[in-house]
Amino acid sequence: MQEVQIQVNGSACSVQVEPGTLLVDCLRGPLGLCGTHQGCDTAQCGACTVQVDGRAVKSCNVLAVQVAGRAVRTVEGLAPAQDRLHPMQQAFSKHHALQCGFCTPGFLMRAVSMADEPEALCDPIDPHWVRHALGGNLCRCTGYEGIVHAVCEGLVAMRRAGAA
Ligand code: FES
Ligand code: FES
Repeated sequence: MQEVQIQVNGSACSVQVEPGTLLVDCLRGPLGLCGTHQGCDTAQCGACTVQVDGRAVKSCNVLAVQVAGRAVRTVEGLAPAQDRLHPMQQAFSKHHALQCGFCTPGFLMRAVSMADEPEALCDPIDPHWVRHALGGNLCRCTGYEGIVHAVCEGLVAMRRAGAA
């Protein structure tokens, strides 16, 4: 076991992990952040997507020790307050962009990371770009139509609100 310091959702955390512990297992286990889901464990489905230093990362494809000293943001860190949703969460709700919801945390974390990409400055956002950019996230309920609408609208709402 070794001790790793990680900033998680804005708070400094110290956690004991094995050298081979995946970030997703560290988040869902000792850190108790089960909003990050675990689907394939082979970097294909995107259910485990989180942000590391603002970039979308599949947490089943990274070791916990590799994010020592870095800032990890999970779906639990999206909403600005307990009674307020993030603009991307609002857009997912408005467009019914979830069915069983298993894929939703990963889609949300990938979607908010897209705000830093140049295509996100367009208004309206190109849905073809959104579909392509979401290619690493799978929805077994095939709710893609609503997800694409939500991401297009959510990115514009994020820009207007100055949200990250
Ligand atoms: S669980 Fe990580 S990509 Fe599927
Ligand atoms: S809403 Fe069920 S897997 Fe996407």
